[in-house]
Amino acid sequence: MILFCAMLPSCLSFLTGKPRSVGGSERVQLSGVFNVRKGKLALPVNRWSKRQVTLSGTCLIVSSVKHAHTGKMHILPLIGGKVEEVKRHSHCLAFNSAGPQSQIYYVSYDSYAEHLRWHRMASKIASQRVNSVDLSCCSLEELPSQLFYSQDLTHLNLKHNFMSLQKGVPALTRFCKLRSLSLSNNALSEFPLALCDITSLTELNLSGNRLSCLPAEVATMHNLQTLLLDGNILSSLPAEMCSLEGLTYLGLSFNCFSGVPPILEKLRGMDKLCLAGNRLSVLDMAALQWLPARYIDVRMNRLQNVTMAGSEQLLHIIQLDMRDAGLQKLDVSCLGKLELLRCDRNCLSVLRVSGHALKSLHASHNGTDTLIIVRFKTDKARHVAFTHTAVLGFAELMQLEVQPVPENLTVLDLCR
Ligand SMILES: *[C@@H]1O[C@H](CO)[C@@H](O)[C@H](O)[C@H]1NC(C)=O
Ligand SMILES: *[C@@H]1O[C@H](CO)[C@@H](O)[C@H](O)[C@H]1NC(C)=O
Ligand SMILES: *[C@@H]1O[C@H](CO)[C@@H](O)[C@H](O)[C@H]1NC(C)=O
Ligand SMILES: *[C@@H]1O[C@H](CO)[C@@H](O)[C@H](O)[C@H]1NC(C)=O
Repeated sequence: MILFCAMLPSCLSFLTGKPRSVGGSERVQLSGVFNVRKGKLALPVNRWSKRQVTLSGTCLIVSSVKHAHTGKMHILPLIGGKVEEVKRHSHCLAFNSAGPQSQIYYVSYDSYAEHLRWHRMASKIASQRVNSVDLSCCSLEELPSQLFYSQDLTHLNLKHNFMSLQKGVPALTRFCKLRSLSLSNNALSEFPLALCDITSLTELNLSGNRLSCLPAEVATMHNLQTLLLDGNILSSLPAEMCSLEGLTYLGLSFNCFSGVPPILEKLRGMDKLCLAGNRLSVLDMAALQWLPARYIDVRMNRLQNVTMAGSEQLLHIIQLDMRDAGLQKLDVSCLGKLELLRCDRNCLSVLRVSGHALKSLHASHNGTDTLIIVRFKTDKARHVAFTHTAVLGFAELMQLEVQPVPENLTVLDLCR
């Protein structure tokens, strides 16, 4: 299977001004200028010519030396293909892609060492599972048609491309076994409705797009367990989403939510909720009672007001991240099963935590020099066995109440 993208004129975009290699450079495993030949060696028409050859992600990319980023680019997916030594030429490798329309690229290296390096790296890629394809950072606007030979595809990574809603995304419905799909960083301004037809999906990553709302049809994706929508411009969720009973992980960080979306209370399977970097100003602990998530991340919000749940104990929250939230006081003593609390880099003067299950407390920050007073509201304070592991420093924190004395605390970081 060869992706000869010159035959698919709209397949690649080399739009000037677009960051064509965003996140791409770290995927380049090997790169260099070598003599390259396409097709069967026996055919006289194909001559050797100098080309830029790159092994990036799971593909071999052959492009013009002078215009490596702007000219035609030939992408050869190596998964399931073959990489062989060519006996008749010294230091030469043949790269074969998989599939019935498989084509060959010959690359001639300058030294044995170089040839060996490429052989090892490319063979490793070729032996990967064919049901998982990584086409991230390939400047794709639509899927290379050769990909459709991989009917058993279960994992597809299309991160950092330019997939279009009209042509690129609808073609994805051909993969009826697809479980995990990433369309993150594709500049999508609308949720692609076609995705709702891929009912096999359990994980969908749409982070880093420009989504401002989700359609009600999202609710038909019954098998979704992980839905990542971080880094969009969402401010609400459709009420229909409550039917996504299997959803366990919802990523909503770096959006425009001004509160915890009420619909989340109905997602009974939700275990992990990320709402970092939104516009939350009030966090109502009593409301969290109805939220099933055990892991909650609300850091980097401007939380002016964290209201108490009264004497009511909330026993499901295990980890809470409230770093960089501008908090001056924090009372989470109602969280009786809390094991990890991160509240670094706030301006805390009072912190109340339940010590029942607490294992790790991070409250370090860089405020002004004021002596910490650690006070345990318990007569068993002498049993504070963790002080030898505690990092007590100078900070703004004046009062810390941990009650009862934590039995299992191993990390306490309160330094500046
Ligand atoms: C989702 O995509 C973003 C952006 O590409 C990436 O940083 C993140 O790790 C992905 N999340 C998962 C769970 O794969
Ligand atoms: C915090 O929120 C509660 C409930 O929304 C409100 O009654 C209280 O006045 C608020 N406190 C501050 C300091 O804004
Ligand atoms: C402390 O840890 C022990 C061992 O893991 C566990 O049995 C015990 O229940 C924990 N205590 C509390 C209060 O969670
Ligand atoms: C301390 O906090 C300020 C802002 O609150 C930040 O600009 C600075 O980099 C921090 N210093 C350290 C050493 O973290």
